[in-house]
Amino acid sequence: MKKQDIVRLSWDEFDEMRDPRPDANAFDSVVERAISRRGFLGGVLAFGSGAAVMGTGVLSSTHTVRAEGASFAFRPIDIATDHEIHVPNGYEWKTLVRWGDPLFKEAEGAYSPDTSVSVAMSDKIFGENTDGMETFVDGDKIVLAINSEYANPEINLPAASEGVPQNADEVRLLKNIQGVTVIEIADNGNGYAVVLDSRYNRRITHETPMTMDGPAAGGDLVKTKADPEGLTPKGTMNNCGSGKTLWGTYLTCEENFNGYFGTTAEREATEGEVRYGIGGEGRYAYEKFDPRFDLSKEPNEPNRHGWVTEIDPLDPSSTPIKHTALGRFKHENAEMVQAADGRVVVYMGDDERGEFIYKYVSNGTWAEGQPTDGLLSEGTLYVARFNDDMTGEWLALTPETTDMPIEEILVFARIAGSKVGATTMDRPEWVAANPLHVEVYCALTNNKNRGVKANAGGDEQSVGGPNPRETNNYGQIVRWRPEGEDHGAERFTWDLYVMAGNPTVYNNAYAGSDNVNEGNMFNSPDGMAFSSDGMLWIQTDGDDSNEGEFEGQGNNQMLVGNPETGEIARFLTAPNGAEVTGLCWSPDKKVAFVGIQHPGGSWPDGNGKPRSSVIAVWREDGGAIG
Ligand code: FEO
Ligand code: CA
Ligand code: CA
Ligand code: CA
Repeated sequence: MKKQDIVRLSWDEFDEMRDPRPDANAFDSVVERAISRRGFLGGVLAFGSGAAVMGTGVLSSTHTVRAEGASFAFRPIDIATDHEIHVPNGYEWKTLVRWGDPLFKEAEGAYSPDTSVSVAMSDKIFGENTDGMETFVDGDKIVLAINSEYANPEINLPAASEGVPQNADEVRLLKNIQGVTVIEIADNGNGYAVVLDSRYNRRITHETPMTMDGPAAGGDLVKTKADPEGLTPKGTMNNCGSGKTLWGTYLTCEENFNGYFGTTAEREATEGEVRYGIGGEGRYAYEKFDPRFDLSKEPNEPNRHGWVTEIDPLDPSSTPIKHTALGRFKHENAEMVQAADGRVVVYMGDDERGEFIYKYVSNGTWAEGQPTDGLLSEGTLYVARFNDDMTGEWLALTPETTDMPIEEILVFARIAGSKVGATTMDRPEWVAANPLHVEVYCALTNNKNRGVKANAGGDEQSVGGPNPRETNNYGQIVRWRPEGEDHGAERFTWDLYVMAGNPTVYNNAYAGSDNVNEGNMFNSPDGMAFSSDGMLWIQTDGDDSNEGEFEGQGNNQMLVGNPETGEIARFLTAPNGAEVTGLCWSPDKKVAFVGIQHPGGSWPDGNGKPRSSVIAVWREDGGAIG
């Protein structure tokens, strides 16, 4: 495949290229086999009336459109297929910050639709492809930390480059427009805007100096020629979802880091590289111009990425810390809660087909005002096993359970998870904990390989448990309740909150669960966050063709789910081509900030060039929005 075609692949298709799938099953036989599993689906009982009741309702297609907005403060909106944003009546939106907008006065006008940004200005502007984000407060100042997941070289490099970097400067530009942006925002009477030249404004890129802690830091697996101590990695990359610590710092999660590394010389891939999709050609040709990204020169450099990295957005001089105790995989987000005894618990998904859900539990405990030393460096990493009887357990990854040294367990957490028999999942995306009840939700976005082929480590992806559909193109949301209402517990019970599907196309399990109907259907749940009022906001990153299996689902969208009743209502639709990802609120909850990643067409400027952006959404009556 030509390089300019490789950079246009989704990250998911990039994985597929590295680990190809056998010929797909015939459409009819897939449907038939799903129907033949009625007995199993009938057994997946739900916690309460609100959950997806996967009994006869799913399979007989008795889907009814619920009374509009029964338990929501808004009237749900229709699907859209256009290149605009839509929100319910009584709500307004405007752009807060676009890719290329200045953080500093010197970068005003740095972006132009024809030439993108210059290398010199590329780390003084808001980064591209916005993703996870969180709000921070310092006295009367409001600060946002926002991930920039990846770059679209075809719209950011000179036309002559055809989307492939031709020299070190072009590589530097791509490195600079990804990572994390920290901005101060203020409401100047006309809605929120970036405060130019604020002392908080900062870009953290693929080159920013960092430190590492935890058991793998300083070990042989993370040492390189440039850093023989293995303690000072550079850069954070493919920053996908986010998290916020109890003590008010930002967690940025490194997802598809593998795609940045390539080799300039023939070499055999190791078991660890194969499991993480590392090898061959890098997505952006970094390896041709920077030996740090060349596996034949620095084989350990990829081991320094794929971590949860902590940033203090309120201290512009702080050095980000990569926390190896939380394991290395394709991190989606990091949802921090507390165990009953005060230990810190972080739930995390590994977004690849057939990979796992993890949780980290600290050794030490924390309470407001207490020191945080060691809380993210000394603890135990667990991986989830979901049983078909709707129970589950957290399996500790230790030298005793895996027969691996602790450094290897953490650097190759996937391999450790396979050893203890973790459950292969349908691409775990965001994890969100209900603030009002001790229960946790994880979006399983889709998995066309379910029931078709093993994961990259050879673990079977059998149909069952919380992954009940073969060739699952729609996705579902699993939730679990820890035993004894304690996030520190090693056992839990689970059910499915929703199985996405299309009740107008299918009359079987692919129609979705009972809380999916013609009026609210969607595919590929991805971003998720709870608002303080206990509502679950669901963002999608799926097929927005509005055709075939996806007919009637329109553009990607943001919906609101009521955890108690199971009702789900569409709140926002994105421009065609975009996914909706990243959600946080103003401190007074009157404004929701929503990320619009990789829009198509000309959104939002209407001049032929799309720009990933964060928008602000508010109620016209000034009420709270979550
Ligand atoms: Fe970056 Fe799994 O989404
Ligand atoms: Ca995502
Ligand atoms: Ca996704
Ligand atoms: Ca994305």
